[in-house]
Amino acid sequence: MLTAIKEAVSYIREKIHEIPDTAIILGTGLGKIVDHLEVEHVVDYQSIPHFPVSTVEGHEGKLISGKLGEKRVLVMQGRFHYYEGYEMQEVIFPIRVMKLLGIKTLVVSNAAGGMNPEFEIGDIMVINDHICLMPNPLVGKHEPAFGVRFPDMSQTYDPELLQKARVLSKELQIPIREGCYVGVTGPTLETPKEYQYLRIIGGDAVGMSTVPEAIAAHQMGISIFAVSVITDLGVPGKIQKLTHQDVIKAAEKTAPKLTELIINLITD
Ligand code: HPA
Repeated sequence: MLTAIKEAVSYIREKIHEIPDTAIILGTGLGKIVDHLEVEHVVDYQSIPHFPVSTVEGHEGKLISGKLGEKRVLVMQGRFHYYEGYEMQEVIFPIRVMKLLGIKTLVVSNAAGGMNPEFEIGDIMVINDHICLMPNPLVGKHEPAFGVRFPDMSQTYDPELLQKARVLSKELQIPIREGCYVGVTGPTLETPKEYQYLRIIGGDAVGMSTVPEAIAAHQMGISIFAVSVITDLGVPGKIQKLTHQDVIKAAEKTAPKLTELIINLITD
């Protein structure tokens, strides 16, 4: 695996000479950040050795480097989900690549269902903890180059970035929620009882991504800031039939606010 990662890193370094220290993974319907990006280089996932290729509607497979204001960033447009059939090793492959490229901070966005009864559709929830109900991505042979065998997860989401988000939320008047994201495999959305269960165990929102990436990044010492857009509600009395299109639509509506928050967080 390490050899494959190093080959991918070498290829990307040939295409992108100046690697930034911050990377962003764009989730469902949140691709609009790219419109604010002064694009310098675009690398198709397909061209990168050993890189998986995204299959989900609304997810594009491109690695983009460019400037957000004065700040150079690396953007992953399109990510890999366990429910697509990838092995967890493949899901976190890009995160390993980022570490070896020299990325220090990772910003991740996703769409999620809200179980917290105070939440509304369109809310932005900054993730301050998670519950992993997916296969753990670190199961398997231990590679010391990536970090310790038993990584501490008591503070997976960078407290300084969380604090910065709180301050920016007030300054920019973009309300945020904070909470615990439960990572599930999908691809089914939850039954009412499943939402209830996820609430009881401590979840505020549920989704099918982010946790594997956060675990891998944290093991390697990358700072993480992760944020969910609440696209539907898993709250008794508020549960409605849901399609993937509904999720994308709701995420797109919140995208401008989230984009503004993330741009400020990164460039401040
Ligand atoms: N459940 C799981 N994943 C999701 C949801 C949900 O309700 N909404 C968006 N992604």
